[in-house]
Amino acid sequence: MSLLNSIKEKAAKAYKKIVLPEGEEERIIRAAEIINAEKLAQVVLIGDSEVIAKKCPDVKLDGVEIINPATANLDEYANLLYELRKSKGLELEKAKQLVKNNLFLGVLLVKSGYCDGMVAGSVNSTGDVLRPALQIIKTAPGISTVSSCFIMIMPDGCKYGDVMVFGDCAVNPNPNAEQLAAIAIASADSAKKIAGIDPRVAMLSFSTKGSAKHELVDKVVEATAIVKELAPELDVDGELQADAALVASVGQLKSPGSTVAGKANVLIFPDLQAGNIGYKLVQRLARAEAIGPICQGFNKPVNDLSRGCSVEDVVNVVAMTALQAGN
Ligand code: ACO
Repeated sequence: MSLLNSIKEKAAKAYKKIVLPEGEEERIIRAAEIINAEKLAQVVLIGDSEVIAKKCPDVKLDGVEIINPATANLDEYANLLYELRKSKGLELEKAKQLVKNNLFLGVLLVKSGYCDGMVAGSVNSTGDVLRPALQIIKTAPGISTVSSCFIMIMPDGCKYGDVMVFGDCAVNPNPNAEQLAAIAIASADSAKKIAGIDPRVAMLSFSTKGSAKHELVDKVVEATAIVKELAPELDVDGELQADAALVASVGQLKSPGSTVAGKANVLIFPDLQAGNIGYKLVQRLARAEAIGPICQGFNKPVNDLSRGCSVEDVVNVVAMTALQAGN
């Protein structure tokens, strides 16, 4: 069974409630119909049911809940928002306005426990989707940094393996050593729980084991030490250049005796420029399928779509979110 089919099967078993705040967007409406029909999750759309019906008259949404922020009584959510953010200077009047914003309402539905997860980003930027979630849903206990990973399904015959996980390619522009360590630990967890692989984590750099001296390298060395301290059971090595991480002969030459060098399947990039460029290069030049970004570290799952997403992408990300909610 393909990885995506296995994710969908597990999502259907978990049958979680996922809110889609961009409920008036055609791709979201069409995805909701499929998710509902295939019973991958219970869907809650935020939007106006008349607008939705007019936009996609052929779509059947029996059983899909639609919440219209313009007419629903949202006092409960305004109060919740106010209580959560008053220490940051938020006033009740402002909270009442903010809950009418679909993205804020979406995260509040999750925070309150009414929904189990949220998926948005088909018409909103990554920052606009993540900021309310960072402010309101916050991180899971014991986790300080929300980050993301991509599951990279490599093309048939790739000699470096069928499935790899890349992190962080979408959230933290310039992580410090502690944040980089958190990204590595979370990506290894996602590799196990979502990609179904046994993680071997490479902390990537332009240096392998002291071959170059630079403060950028020092950060990766420090992050590797933190990972080893916080997650001693994890198979991790660093700092490694990409070829030392992937190619057995280079890995053994540059990091002799390493259980990761030459066979890494979780690649941790030192910052967002490297991570975002890196996954897109592999996606385009090697024709790998990139599933994600999958957000990790939130107290309840929230995932971001690309604005170029297809209906199928939305269905897949909802299935992944439902799986995270069930884990
Ligand atoms: N983990 C945990 N908490 C965080 C994180 C994080 N990574 N980042 C910010 N926060 C918290 C802050 O502490 C703050 O909490 P508080 O308000 O309770 O004190 C809250 O979130 C909001 O912080 P801001 O400083 O307002 O948020 P910021 O402006 O830093 O935005 C964001 C965070 C949106 C994630 C930003 O870092 C960002 O835009 N990242 C890049 C996104 C991007 O453009 N990615 C590339 C495209 S995606 C793709 O190509 C697939």
